[in-house]
This record gives sequence, structure tokens and C-alpha cells, in this order.
Amino acid sequence: MTAGSTMYKRSLLPHWVSFRRQLKRWLFPARMGSLRSTKPLSSAWGFDRGRPVDRYYIDSFLEAHRKDIHGRTLEILNTEYTRRFGSNIERADILDIDPANRQATIIADLAAADSIENDSFDCFILTQTLQLIYDVKSAVAHSHRILRPRGVLLVTVPAISRLAGEGYTDYWRFTPASCARLFAEIFGADQVTITAYGNVLSAVAFLEGMAYEELSKPELDVIDEHYPVLMAIRAVKK
Ligand SMILES: C[S@@+](CC[C@H](N)C(=O)[O-])C[C@H]1O[C@@H](n2cnc3c(N)ncnc32)[C@H](O)[C@@H]1O
Repeated sequence: MTAGSTMYKRSLLPHWVSFRRQLKRWLFPARMGSLRSTKPLSSAWGFDRGRPVDRYYIDSFLEAHRKDIHGRTLEILNTEYTRRFGSNIERADILDIDPANRQATIIADLAAADSIENDSFDCFILTQTLQLIYDVKSAVAHSHRILRPRGVLLVTVPAISRLAGEGYTDYWRFTPASCARLFAEIFGADQVTITAYGNVLSAVAFLEGMAYEELSKPELDVIDEHYPVLMAIRAVKK
């Protein structure tokens, strides 16, 4: 549709419709305050103000699944979440594609991770990484292959989020529908639980780079299926 044809259609709107819309803007003005800027409050995800909003939801998800984090574990980048939420850890491995990561015990591309043996881990904490992998289906297939039978994959991925930058190539954003298909095709639908976290307020706060400390717990905890900030997936290998 051209700009001209849109203008033409608008001019055909009855005057009362146009007036009603204008009245709505007068009666319920959007007061944007300090958010009325084309630049975000923080361009560092909110780390310069506190903790980023998505981290609140990642913590909530991992807190709810503490029992899964035990035995031989794998995590990306470091062992932060294994240390905070795990118990009875037998060995905690770290996977990274980045050979400069001195903490990593395994350097590999998760989408081509044939160097990692089958059935190796009781739990794989895969947070905030799949969006950086172009062949996401292969990455999920390898995640499944390297889990032991009854092993658990705990994944979080962004839904509504700024792009990464900072040297990362950011390929994807995820929805409840794409997560359901992606993980069910590999693990089986009955082995997968999908949870959406967030709402329009927390999405705006996250995009602006506000810290989660700037919202209340009741505000953060509302889940609006139309405005997910984060998708979390728990998938169990049969
Ligand atoms: C944004 S960090 C997130 C990881 C961290 N666990 C977290 O929750 O913050 C992404 C990490 O994934 C790694 N990464 C990116 N692509 C990868 C791939 N194809 N295979 C394995 N690791 C990858 C990056 O090097 C980086 O360490």
C-alpha cells in the first residue's frame, strides 16, 4: 500500500471515528517522561543501573528447576548458574565457541559439537546463547545427543529484546510457537515444557535498559502471552 492510498483511506473515515480516536489521545495521553528519547536509558542492558530485566526471569526459571541441576553439568561461558542453583555437582564443564575463554573446558561450536561424546551430561544450562547460533536446530540436536538419558536441558532465549552487539552475531528471536516446534521435534512434545516470562511493562523497561530493581516484583511477575521478554524451555531426554 502506498502512502498516498493510506492517506486516501484515512480521509474516508467518518469524522466521528477520527474524533473518537483524538479524544482517546486527549483523555489517556501516553506520558513518556524520561523515556521520550530515541536513545535508551542504558545501552548496556541496564548493568550500569542494576541487573537487566531478563536476568530476573532467568533466575526465576532456574530457581524453579534447581532439582535438575546436579551430577555432571554443562554451562555456556562460565559456571555462574551451576554454582548458584546446582547441588551435588559431580563435575561442572563449560562450553564456549570462543577459544579466548580460559575458563572453558570444552571449545566447540554447539551446532557442530561432534567432539563431545553422546550421553555425557545430567544437566545442560543453555542460557541466552541459541539466538547467536544460525543453525539453531543442529544446536538443539547436539544438546539432546550429549545429555544422558533422563538428563535435562534448561534453555532461555530472548523474545522481545534489543540486539546483542558486543562482538556477537545475533540471528534469532523466539516465540512460544517456534520454541514448541523446535524442541518437540527433537525431544518429543511430551518431554518439553515451555514458559513465557514478561509483559509489556517489563518489555519496555528491558528495551530501555532499565534495571529490574526499578520495577516491583508484582510488575515483573505478570505474564502476558502477547509480550514475552524471555522464553524458557525445560526438555528431558527420554
Ligand atoms: C551472551 S553469552 C550467554 C551465556 C551465559 N551463560 C549467559 O547466560 O549470560 C553467549 C555465549 O555463547 C557463546 N557462543 C556463541 N555461539 C556459540 C556456539 N555456536 N557454540 C558454543 N558457544 C557459543 C559465546 O562465545 C558466549 O560465551
